Amino acid sequence: MKIAILPGDGIGPEIVAEAVKVLGALDLHFETETAPVGGAAYEAHGHPLPESTLKLAREADAILFGAVGDWKYDKLDRPLRPEQAILGLRKNLGLFANFRPAICYEQLVDASSLKPELIAGLDILIIRELTGDIYFGQPRGRRTAADGHFPGAEEAFDTMRYSRPEIERIAHVAFQAARKRSKKVTSVDKANVLETFQFWKDVVTEVHQEYPDVALEHMYVDNAAMQLVKAPKAFDVIVTGNMFGDILSDEASMLTGSIGMLPSASLNSRKQGLYEPSHGSAPDIAGKGVANPLATILSAAMLLRFSLDQEEAAQRIETAVQKVLAQGLRTPDIWSDGTTKVGTAQMGDAVVKALAG
Ligand code: IPM
Ligand code: MG
Repeated sequence: MKIAILPGDGIGPEIVAEAVKVLGALDLHFETETAPVGGAAYEAHGHPLPESTLKLAREADAILFGAVGDWKYDKLDRPLRPEQAILGLRKNLGLFANFRPAICYEQLVDASSLKPELIAGLDILIIRELTGDIYFGQPRGRRTAADGHFPGAEEAFDTMRYSRPEIERIAHVAFQAARKRSKKVTSVDKANVLETFQFWKDVVTEVHQEYPDVALEHMYVDNAAMQLVKAPKAFDVIVTGNMFGDILSDEASMLTGSIGMLPSASLNSRKQGLYEPSHGSAPDIAGKGVANPLATILSAAMLLRFSLDQEEAAQRIETAVQKVLAQGLRTPDIWSDGTTKVGTAQMGDAVVKALAG
């Protein structure tokens, strides 16, 4: 088994180092190899996703990814920007199924901006389609408008599109995940306005016929955004397209108190996966040793579960994380009165220690 380690930019290297520390403490046998990605790769190789990094990612069974992006690269041409690295990995490896759990840990109920009773015990799973939709649809670009409100004016355009097989495979992923949970799926769309999402709704409804034991509801995305803050516990599995999933998963992350706690997995049909925290590169706190490594450590647990088939080791990590929270250790993003403030490395060390006993 081989794990590609892609730390990336900003806080990426710091938090990935802690996750690697935790993986190393498990005494499992796997090989690791590290490569630059994002802005770091642009600096080293002139491209955010160099051929050598892509090759390593393709060959690995799993990828542990930190984060990419920094304001200093915002002026680069789009193909050279750090974000293209993660989009390129998703596309090239066919990582179409993105799992973003939002779990509110008992000890962190007060860290959320929502009332405790709304989020205590929250455990939802957002399944975001990750290789289609307006993110990747062609054509896209800039041109002179031939029609519309201002013919002859300069305009920009993107294309929202989904094919039947793309919708079918993500719907299967969602229904199968729901079978292992409370057997309920909410499919989020904008069928009242968009052709693409009327088709989405139709295809999800068809696939649902194969899962009579799972309940399916449909919800428009604007309403879903509202329900997520009104009564988040009414959801279990949410399945949606790439764009809506991007937005709703950030919203859901805040229900739990801190985006610094949320892992994610992006899988292809061969169970090869990329595992990354749901948060970004946070260049403002990079290098200060204050970033929360728990989302990355929990992503490593998902890596063991989904790509390496090591359920027991995955649970050991998750239990260890619960333990350090119970001990009252908190990085600044989740700190509150009466708890102990720790830095990135201290938090990683505490998880390693909690693994042992
Ligand atoms: C995410 C991020 C990415 C996305 C960016 C960095 C391209 O926001 O993983 O949610 O939009 O998918
Ligand atoms: Mg996002």
